[in-house]
Amino acid sequence: MSFTARTEIEPFRIKSVEPIGITSPAQRQAALKEAGLNIFNLKAEDVLIDLLTDSGTGAMSAAQWSAMMIGDESYAGSRSFYKYEGQIKKITGFKYVLPTHQGRSAENILFSAILKPDSIVPSNTHFDTTRANVELQGAEADDLLVAEGKQPMLEAPFKGNMDVARLEDLIKRVGRERIPVVMMTVTNNGGGGQPVSMANLREVSQVCRKYGIPFFIDACRFAENAMFIKRREAGYADKSPLEITQEMFSYADGATMSAKKDGLANIGGFLAMNDDHWIELCRNRMIPIEGFVTYGGLAGYDMEALAVGLEEVLDENYLNYRLNQTAYLGQKILDAGVPIVRPTGGHAVFIDAGAMLSHIPWNQYPGTALSAYLYEIAGIRSCEIGTVLFGLKNPDGSDAPAPNELLRLAIPRRMYTRSHMDYVAEAVAYAAEHKNEIHGLRFTYAAPVLRHFTARYEWIS
Ligand code: F0G
Repeated sequence: MSFTARTEIEPFRIKSVEPIGITSPAQRQAALKEAGLNIFNLKAEDVLIDLLTDSGTGAMSAAQWSAMMIGDESYAGSRSFYKYEGQIKKITGFKYVLPTHQGRSAENILFSAILKPDSIVPSNTHFDTTRANVELQGAEADDLLVAEGKQPMLEAPFKGNMDVARLEDLIKRVGRERIPVVMMTVTNNGGGGQPVSMANLREVSQVCRKYGIPFFIDACRFAENAMFIKRREAGYADKSPLEITQEMFSYADGATMSAKKDGLANIGGFLAMNDDHWIELCRNRMIPIEGFVTYGGLAGYDMEALAVGLEEVLDENYLNYRLNQTAYLGQKILDAGVPIVRPTGGHAVFIDAGAMLSHIPWNQYPGTALSAYLYEIAGIRSCEIGTVLFGLKNPDGSDAPAPNELLRLAIPRRMYTRSHMDYVAEAVAYAAEHKNEIHGLRFTYAAPVLRHFTARYEWIS
């Protein structure tokens, strides 16, 4: 006899619970008005299911909480740092590790140390903070995603890959000297949480080595990427997520990481690399900004939680559950006739709001409009990944459209259950049925950089 269950279950049981914000429609309407229709301005306690981000929002394990109790809070050389450093070295193989309080400070330290105003930094797709940190140095952030990555509905296994031919063309055209580093985001958050194949990492690395350009990985979701490689790329089915991860990093010269994602903790990050000169530049930058090189803005107990998290995240049962939960939500939304980026990525379902709300033009922000509406009807918080977030400009300074108008439903790790996902899918289906109720938006306030965080809007009636 063999029982094979059709029901996908969470591979954990719940030891500690937290109530979620149950509100009335009138309360949500008032809260949304107060927030200038921007879900970033809402109070979290007014949110029922918070899919704003998968960053720092997950549930820690009992093992992580207990590790925190033995955190060593020494200013320099703490035992907790060496544990954290050891786990990062095991995964990445890099020679040097600087802890940081989150990903963007690792990016800031690296880019401020190595970029010049005429530099160009190619990537598959820069995420907003990475782009902002490149541009803050006066340099240019270039996205070289493969063509299939730009077609939301196209089913392909590795839509996060970089276009290697375009990378080589760029290097030949502008010269190696203008490109201090090539970045690769795994998985590709800005492009739908899509994975990058091992073959692509290898090829990009070969081009970088040919021209003597360092290659860095933006490693926020490295474990999810590794699991996609295991599932989808020939030759990896029998390898463990750790082995796959080690091979991924073996092609690179360094990494920045927001450990608030696949570190399975609520805060933390790192900058890691092999280069003896660059690490010196980065250490010197780091001390006045983040703190001494063995704590970098983190408490000893944070580094304990991260060291355990970076081990737990490579558990195959966890990773199967993680990717399956995201796919489950994606399938339910698709079944409701709502277009999403396909196949579903690792950490989020990306609704193609531009296609779903085709009556709202790109410059009336369909993704942001849908985010406000979903909050209003169901208390769900999501995040636009489109024209507002990317803030792209034409050469004349006017706003340019993002490649796609997406709405991201990011799933915090180990936090919500299957019934929460069913509720979200029901609300999205309702929005699709009532889409003519959803209008475009205009800004009443927009900051010059990273405007999505603080913007305010009004409905265009
Ligand atoms: N790189 C990528 C690919 C990211 O997704 C993020 C953060 C960062 C860098 C910056 O890390 O927040 O720790 O400073 N992404 C979050 C998100 C905020 O919601 O996707 P951070």
